[in-house]
Amino acid sequence: MTLEIDFKKYPTPRLRHHTNPSLYMSLESHSVTPKFYPAIEETIDWGTIYKNPSPPDVLDVGCGRGGSLLKWAYSQPERNFLGVEVRHTVVEWINDIIRGESINNCYAKYYSAVNGFPFIEDKSLSQIVYLFPDPWVKKKHYKRRAFTEQLLKEFHRILKPNGTLSLATDVPEVDAYQLEILNGTSYFSVREVDDAEWNVPFKTDQQLFSDRKSIPYVRRIATPL
Ligand SMILES: C[S@@+](CC[C@H](N)C(=O)[O-])C[C@H]1O[C@@H](n2cnc3c(N)ncnc32)[C@H](O)[C@@H]1O
Repeated sequence: MTLEIDFKKYPTPRLRHHTNPSLYMSLESHSVTPKFYPAIEETIDWGTIYKNPSPPDVLDVGCGRGGSLLKWAYSQPERNFLGVEVRHTVVEWINDIIRGESINNCYAKYYSAVNGFPFIEDKSLSQIVYLFPDPWVKKKHYKRRAFTEQLLKEFHRILKPNGTLSLATDVPEVDAYQLEILNGTSYFSVREVDDAEWNVPFKTDQQLFSDRKSIPYVRRIATPL
């Protein structure tokens, strides 16, 4: 099944590349909760989100416009998909498409990944994808990068023992930064993969952009230790 979206029905909203800087920082790092800070639930009743009340099987962290997420969910209706994204406008837009196209196994959640995933059960996910994260290349912005030892620990907690964490970036410095964290902890073993081994069946918007502009990118699969 291939998803064909009539984008005239869902006009693309005007999107900024970034949102309020306070949302890239964890809630506990703020002395006062910033306005519009995404809620951090301890649990979610998945039956209120998906037709099949099972927990999500695939988590897309920083799903952006959801180009890959929507097509993937549509093509595999037996699995539940959750995208998390810190830009509110794009989350609303994705959920409009999900409702309009009845993609009942998919949901986009307005959320900042820096707070971990308390609402996701231990060892419940088959796959986490973390694709083309914002690079934050200026030193003063490093602290906005969500990929930290704490996040890896969370990924390890919520992934099934035979699950996978799929990573992609077109920024060599980000790849090196993520590898340093991966290799400096004992949560995952990681390897570079090519097309034959890559396990995300649909390209993300950023990946399609890189392909169009011939920008190289690296893909890695990490497996829990
Ligand atoms: C460069 S875009 C890539 C989007 C998509 N993964 C793709 O490959 O097309 C990075 C996305 O991560 C989101 N993001 C950045 N920090 C985040 C955070 N702490 N929590 C959730 N999403 C975040 C951004 O808003 C943006 O949509």
